Amino acid sequence: MSEINGKVVIITGASSGLGEATAHRLAKGGAKLVLGARREDRLKALRDAIVEQGGEAIYRVTDVTDRSQVEALAQAAKEAYGRIDVLINNAGLMPLSPLDQLKVDEWEKMVDVNIKGVLYGLAAVLPTMREQHAGHIINLSSVAGHVVFPSAAVYCATKYAVKALSEGIRQEGGEEIRSTNISPGAVATELTTTISDPETAKGVGELYEMAIDADAIARAIAFAIEQPADVDVNELIIRPTKQPL
Ligand SMILES: NC(=O)c1ccc[n+]([C@@H]2O[C@H](COP(=O)([O-])OP(=O)(O)OC[C@H]3O[C@@H](n4cnc5c(N)ncnc54)[C@H](OP(=O)(O)O)[C@@H]3O)[C@@H](O)[C@H]2O)c1
Repeated sequence: MSEINGKVVIITGASSGLGEATAHRLAKGGAKLVLGARREDRLKALRDAIVEQGGEAIYRVTDVTDRSQVEALAQAAKEAYGRIDVLINNAGLMPLSPLDQLKVDEWEKMVDVNIKGVLYGLAAVLPTMREQHAGHIINLSSVAGHVVFPSAAVYCATKYAVKALSEGIRQEGGEEIRSTNISPGAVATELTTTISDPETAKGVGELYEMAIDADAIARAIAFAIEQPADVDVNELIIRPTKQPL
């Protein structure tokens, strides 16, 4: 039987893109999904689609920049399913721009969602995973957590931070808690719609012509989860074959 079957999996940012694709794939493998994001209509439609296809899912509207809402998401998982096996810290945004434009509000949003949201997720599930003596934290970093791109300094800084956190969780998780850092390259999702600078949006639009399907990342996440408990897949980089950097 697959190691995915029956696992309780929380996904932040489940309302589109990688989160949504991962929810569909894991539901097909028999996981019990707990879906979080801000757009309730999208979460409800996803929950309904999963249930219609014979899967199990609940959702809770969650803004990951609010620690109490992330705690409530973890609590909802425990109330519905009694445990938390996997947290996928996936919510993120990428409003790229050159530093000289001083889009400080966007820098702060990236820090709040891409870093603090991940920390709130970790804090919400770690005590439960310790009590269970088992758990798995999967963080969405990026190729931008390995390489710094033009006009992407702040986004890259957040994704380098996520990579560092994943390694810290791996080291401190010991024998009980697995840690996986997922680093996608260009993937076709709504991520690029957060870019407000027209020049940067144009350049990124050209790069994303090679973007691969979100299910490529969902498959990588499923691979990490389905390994036996004594196997910890720590780092996966998944690029379009054509992507140069
Ligand atoms: N697509 C790529 O090329 C790529 C490459 C490398 C890494 N990544 C990473 O993959 C992750 C998923 O991105 P994606 O590509 O799937 O983009 P996406 O389609 O834009 O999805 C982002 C998700 O994050 C959620 N989100 C944003 N702010 C939030 C908040 N404050 N609280 C809760 N949820 C929030 C959004 O939902 P709501 O708006 O409903 O809240 C949405 O579901 C991100 O961390 C991104 O940095 C993506």
